[in-house]
Amino acid sequence: MTLVHPPLAAAMIHGVETEGPTVASTNPARLDEVVAEVRLGDAGTLVAAARVARGAQRGWAEVPAPVRGGVIGNFGRLVEENAEALARLVTREIGKPLAEARGEVQEIIDTCRFFLGEGRRLYGETVPSEMPDKQLFTFREPVGVMMVITAGNFPVAVPSWYLVPALLCGNAVVWKPAEYAAACARALTELAQHAGLPPGVLSMVPADGAATAAGLAQALDAGLVDKVGFTGSTEVGREIGALCGRHLQTPCLELGGKNPMVVAPDADIDLAVEGALFGGFGTAGQRCTSLGTVIVHESVYAGFRRRFAAAVENAAIGDPTRPVLYGPMLDAKFAAGYERHLGLIRDHHTTFGSTAVGRITAAAPRRGFVGDPAEGLYYHPVVVDGVRPDDALFLEETFGPIVGLATYRDLDAAIELANAPGYGLSSAIYTNDPATVFRFRRGISAGMVSVNNSTSGAEAHLPFGGNGRSGNGSRQSGRWVLDQVTRWQSVNWDYSGRLQKAQLDTAVPDADLAFRLEPWR
Ligand code: UN1
Repeated sequence: MTLVHPPLAAAMIHGVETEGPTVASTNPARLDEVVAEVRLGDAGTLVAAARVARGAQRGWAEVPAPVRGGVIGNFGRLVEENAEALARLVTREIGKPLAEARGEVQEIIDTCRFFLGEGRRLYGETVPSEMPDKQLFTFREPVGVMMVITAGNFPVAVPSWYLVPALLCGNAVVWKPAEYAAACARALTELAQHAGLPPGVLSMVPADGAATAAGLAQALDAGLVDKVGFTGSTEVGREIGALCGRHLQTPCLELGGKNPMVVAPDADIDLAVEGALFGGFGTAGQRCTSLGTVIVHESVYAGFRRRFAAAVENAAIGDPTRPVLYGPMLDAKFAAGYERHLGLIRDHHTTFGSTAVGRITAAAPRRGFVGDPAEGLYYHPVVVDGVRPDDALFLEETFGPIVGLATYRDLDAAIELANAPGYGLSSAIYTNDPATVFRFRRGISAGMVSVNNSTSGAEAHLPFGGNGRSGNGSRQSGRWVLDQVTRWQSVNWDYSGRLQKAQLDTAVPDADLAFRLEPWR
């Protein structure tokens, strides 16, 4: 018998070796399968990586931006050449269905394609001066060293939203991925390093929450980190925001969501059901953009409920390597958190969508389950009807295959309900009435609004981000993320040979402001 050892996912820091015990990253669809042994770094590892990044950053910033763009282009090509292997690794390590994992890998390729061209733009501006013989300019400058801390629900695409623009703009990056997705992180980092990045410009350090908090605090104290990017929970985002604030830094925060979908009286109900199914249950409800509550007009509620119930009951759930709506929870930690949220279901709620609520087991089977539920962390989908604005289930992000259902009578009440939890990431409305669309768009507090489309499924070049409990207003993706990874420098160049004082020496032509059009009054 040959014993095959799982690969090691350890930190990747140029010139720094890490030692220490490892923890297993397992396949949540086959709990006895170890995907990688993960060597977790400690606070010192993160500080060491930040120091290496500091040493490498200036040299990288000296490389002309179009040449850096070429490296990003190579990265995209390498991801494309390795797309299937990377997608399969995503499915193995976090249990996302293969079709979704392929989409996730495509999102990295799209991001690289966008930013490869940005290397030839990265525009600054020429601005007119109020003085003669003087010119004004703006330049984008890299922020310096970025520490990027990401979740594992999008273990490669969401990190690429930070890494790609940050590197393109001449920053050095220390990436701290989720521990339970460290094999994916290792693979993505290897691809990036083969694209032509100089040593030290990108490091990757798997670490747990406590080590990350301590390492980040120490690296900030030592002046080794200039910007933090964080995708994860609202709770941790608050801590990171407070820590960065003490260093006068504004982190890029992409936090949770309780994303509403409003179904108006004129909605195409089948389309709305399809959107609710994908938004609510895709990735087992573990996206930041997952649907939280469907808010349905009372006139179409009965029809929506009936068709939604049929769709959820008939959805294929199970083995993520086969065509299913969703597979297992990302990891045991997420299964435990989701079970706590199931405890928020109350007597005034009614549930539907499956043959039981909770874990799918031989004793609580799911009709039509694909595969053997005992092998992984599988949960029944559940729709909770009758959620009220003061229910914890209505107010809190639940991060699992659960969707709330409520009704409304007039649009203002629907908008109020949609905003009530205080998040503000994504939202959706199903209607064909332009007045309803624009009233909703203006009233909703979300950073992203879908019309006749699901709360999930953002394209890679439109601003992504939220407000309120979903973030601090920062936006990723497209040209908007450039404001996260660069700082503006303004330059004024006076070649008049004398000191021309702005405002004081500005020549203003005389005007007769008392003049009126008397004869035509
Ligand atoms: C996330 O859940 O963190 O819009 C990101 C979507 C994906 C990205 C989600 N393109 O669902």
